[in-house]
This record gives sequence, C-alpha cells and structure tokens, in this order.
Amino acid sequence: MPTKLGTTITKKIMEEQRLYPSASGNFSGMLYELVVGLKVIAYEVNKAGLMGILGKAGSSNIQGEEQQKLDVFANTTLIHKMDHTGYLAGMASEENEDIFPIPDRHPQGGKYILLFDPLDGSSNIDVNISIGTIFSVFRKISDHPKCELKDFLQPGTQLLASGYAVYGSSTMFVYSTGYGVQGFTLDPGVGEFILSHPDIMTPKKASYYSINEGNSVNWDAKITKLVNYFKMDDKASGRPLSGRYIGSLVADFHRNLLKGGIFMYPPDKKSPNGKLRLMYEAIPLAYIAEQAGGAAIDCFGNRILDIVPKELHQRTSLIIGGKDAVEQARRILLE
Ligand code: AHG
Ligand code: MN
Ligand code: MN
Repeated sequence: MPTKLGTTITKKIMEEQRLYPSASGNFSGMLYELVVGLKVIAYEVNKAGLMGILGKAGSSNIQGEEQQKLDVFANTTLIHKMDHTGYLAGMASEENEDIFPIPDRHPQGGKYILLFDPLDGSSNIDVNISIGTIFSVFRKISDHPKCELKDFLQPGTQLLASGYAVYGSSTMFVYSTGYGVQGFTLDPGVGEFILSHPDIMTPKKASYYSINEGNSVNWDAKITKLVNYFKMDDKASGRPLSGRYIGSLVADFHRNLLKGGIFMYPPDKKSPNGKLRLMYEAIPLAYIAEQAGGAAIDCFGNRILDIVPKELHQRTSLIIGGKDAVEQARRILLE
C-alpha cells in the first residue's frame, strides 16, 4: 500500500478502506468523524490557558478521581461528535460509569462500539505538558437492538482499530486498523492531519525505561529487581537505559514508540491491581505496540490483547514497549 509522506488522513483512510473490497464505508466514515472530534479537542487544549478552562471541574469521575474542566470538555466533545453519526451502537468512556447506547433521537443500527479515555494525563493539563486522547473500536457482537455490556467486554484480539492523539508541541494522530501504524501531524494552517510517520516500527533497541519510581517503596521485590535490571551497566545489551517519565501515558508511550523503550506501571501496595485501565488505556496502546513490532503484557506475563475484560473500568498492570525489553521483563517477573 502506498504510504507517501504528506498524504492527508482522508486519503489514507480511503486507501485502507480499499483493502476491504466489501467495505460499506461506514468504518471510514466513523474514523473521519472521530478525527474531527480530536481536532476540536486539540484546538481547545491549545487555547485552554487563555479561555479559563484549566483547573478542576469540582466533580469526580467513576473512578473517584477529580475531574479537570478539560476532561469534561473532551468527554462531551467526543460523545456529541459521535452520537448522531449513525455509525455507532454505543460508546464507553473512562469518565462515565456506564455504557452509552446511542439515544433514540439519533440514527440507530450502528455496527461499531467506541471506547475512549477522552483526556489522558490529567495531572499535566495545567502545566503545558503533553496530554492526549486514546480510543479503540470493536464490532458490535450482540443481538441487542442497541448494545449491551458484552459488546464492550471484548479482548484486544477483536479490535478493529485503535489509536491516540497527543496534544504536544504539535498535535499528532497515530492509529492502526491492523495494517501497521500510521502517524499524522496536524497542520494547524489548513486544519488537516498530514502523514508524517508512515508505517511506524518501534526501534529494536530500547533507549528508555519509564516508570513512576516515586512508588518504589510500595513495590514488590520482583518489580524492584526488574527496574534494577534496566538500570544495570551492561554495554553489550545497551544498558543502563535512560529514565524518562512524563506521567501522561500517551506521551510516555509515544516517545518510547518512536525512540525505543519500555513503559511499566506495575501493581503496588496502593493499587494492587495496577492503576491503568485495561479497556481505555492498556488494550488500545497494546494494539499499537504490537502493530509496530513491540509487545505488551501485564505483570503476570499475560499478553494484554489476550485478556478478556470482566468489567468496563477494570484496572491492569502494564509493561509495554519493544519486544526484547518486554520479553526480558516477562522473564524476570516469571522466574
Ligand atoms: P488519566 O489522566 O486519564 O486519569 O490517566 C493518568 C494515568 C496515565 O496517563 C499516567 O501514565 C499515569 O496515570 C500516571 O500516574 P502516576 O501519577 O501515578 O505516575
Ligand atoms: Mn488515562
Ligand atoms: Mn483520562
């Protein structure tokens, strides 16, 4: 498939649609609409400081975490952008307790299920550090006239697409529909995402390890051993790795995807099941990692994409990055 630098996202989505001769165009249509929603969020994030929409919203999300005004804005933007398109049967967001079947007043019969973390990296919102949006798409599998929980609790192996936007020094959109990973940069002049990183493959050699070492007092000895491994001096295997941790998963992941590295959020005494969310964070990024030649596991050594979710807001531990580094981590954790 041609992946010419400078291709617009519109053209790229059309090219991918041609790989499915029986495609109705609904999937492509849904992706276009989503991309517009992400552009709206990017626009708002860029002027947030001036518009007085930084800071706390005075409410909590389903996880009991304090919501920021931009969390709420990004969430409503995506819901309102996507609810009337006719492409979706339902949505689920990290910020909402329940699934969101498409209301009766909007076109029904959509075939797709959309999940998202509308704004990832909330703690970095008001200090001008990269944040992002993470999404994933499944096919509706139930016979329910609208949708039901079963449509959402599918393992990552069933994904049709996933991706993310990073709102950083530029806005980037990175996605995969199972044919490799494509990265686009938003040209703010024309308001279009332009293919800047075609067919992304993560470097074989990891340069960075990313973990919140402030939690080390609460780690199990195995995790300490694992992190120490990446810090050990061993020229032959390219260690020690450099430490990099932003605290926005999407930005940490994006840097490691392009530069080579491993991101770890293990369980600890405070978060015994891990902190990150399986459905909104781990599965979509695991799909991107694998499509880019990398890997993603939990701290039991399970491949993230094989995990069958039991609940919408399930937490997981996450080790994600280059294949070799993730395999090393698995070996240390399971020995
Ligand atoms: P969110 O802002 O969507 O709630 O996610 C925050 C997540 C993730 O972005 C990041 O990797 C992690 O929390 C950072 O957690 P710590 O502050 O515990 O390191
Ligand atoms: Mn998040
Ligand atoms: Mn979030």
